[in-house]
Amino acid sequence: MSKQLAPDYVRAIAPYQAGKPISEVAREFGLDEAGIVKLASNENPLGMPESAKLAMQQAMAELGRYPDANGFALKAAISAKYDVPQSWITLGNGSNDILEIAAHAFVQPGQSVVYAQYGFLVYALATQAVGARAIEVPAKEFGHDLQAMAKAITADTRLVYLANPNNPTGTFVSAAELEAFLKAVPADVVVVLDEAYNEYLAAEHQYESTAWVRQYPNLVVSRTMSKAYGLAGLRVGFAIAQPEVTDLMNRIRQPFNVNSLAQAAAIAALNDKAFLQKSAEVNSAGYRQLTAAFDELKLSYVPSFGNFVLVKVGEDDGAGARVNLALLQRGIIVRPVGNYGLPQWLRISIGLPEENAAFIAALKTVLA
Ligand SMILES: Cc1ncc(COP(=O)(O)O)c(C=O)c1O
Repeated sequence: MSKQLAPDYVRAIAPYQAGKPISEVAREFGLDEAGIVKLASNENPLGMPESAKLAMQQAMAELGRYPDANGFALKAAISAKYDVPQSWITLGNGSNDILEIAAHAFVQPGQSVVYAQYGFLVYALATQAVGARAIEVPAKEFGHDLQAMAKAITADTRLVYLANPNNPTGTFVSAAELEAFLKAVPADVVVVLDEAYNEYLAAEHQYESTAWVRQYPNLVVSRTMSKAYGLAGLRVGFAIAQPEVTDLMNRIRQPFNVNSLAQAAAIAALNDKAFLQKSAEVNSAGYRQLTAAFDELKLSYVPSFGNFVLVKVGEDDGAGARVNLALLQRGIIVRPVGNYGLPQWLRISIGLPEENAAFIAALKTVLA
């Protein structure tokens, strides 16, 4: 029966597995919510910025009205911060929305989309959702093999997804490698450069992707307010691309995809330099704390440029699921990555010092 309701490519989709909410783990394992530590969804452990809370409170009065469909004020804030015209910006309900809009705008059923093994799972989902063919390029040391990805592009490839840094591996490709890749990609293939974790990059790794947008009319840079800006629950992301590509993406975008509270909060957060700075500091201290513990426990991990670390918790293919369950029983939520083909690994989002410490203590007990 359901076979007639949807095409085969929709029926083949394995739904996205999100990090377990604290309330669900409390119910399932009979734990007190207050004692549960969630390091599973790469959220900002500082929560949302006060500046954003205040902006939302002020925006409450207008909730009887629709949001600004064009997000004028938010686009103005993005435009000022990144020095790009407003006509180059597409707003998304989270950057997840941007990734999906790109697939719907540029790819037809039967055409192909290139992304990397261990690339963010939504690339596979968005590809499948439009009935396109995935070309998954084997990773190099857990990261993107850009030369192989350029070679993998075929005549029917319409889109390439690439995350820098990548989730769940935390790997990073340099500006020089990226630029060589952009040069190699045919001009009629859209490249979505997903920079969800860009704000966590140390100064020496930062690069000007908006300058590349000026140079490459097929480049879409995707950003999110969910990570370093601390607004994951509000769902705000945006894309920067030249007007032709932006215009096409906006034809697919739902008119009111970013709600009024989210628009107000995002403007405040974009301008809150102190919060961003603090987020980066908490993250690098937490990275040192977690990786020192992994070194002490002699666990392999992939050096990470994001706000999470991929760590190998055993040699057998049951290790990730087993250690994950034992951690859940102790009130620690992390992310198993068996669905990425990494069944021996877990992804740990970097938390506050005390959250990292609780995770490390539980991990030591579980592995002992
Ligand atoms: C690489 C990458 N891109 C995009 C997203 C989507 O985030 P959001 O929809 O909250 O902006 C995530 C979230 O985890 C991510 O890891």
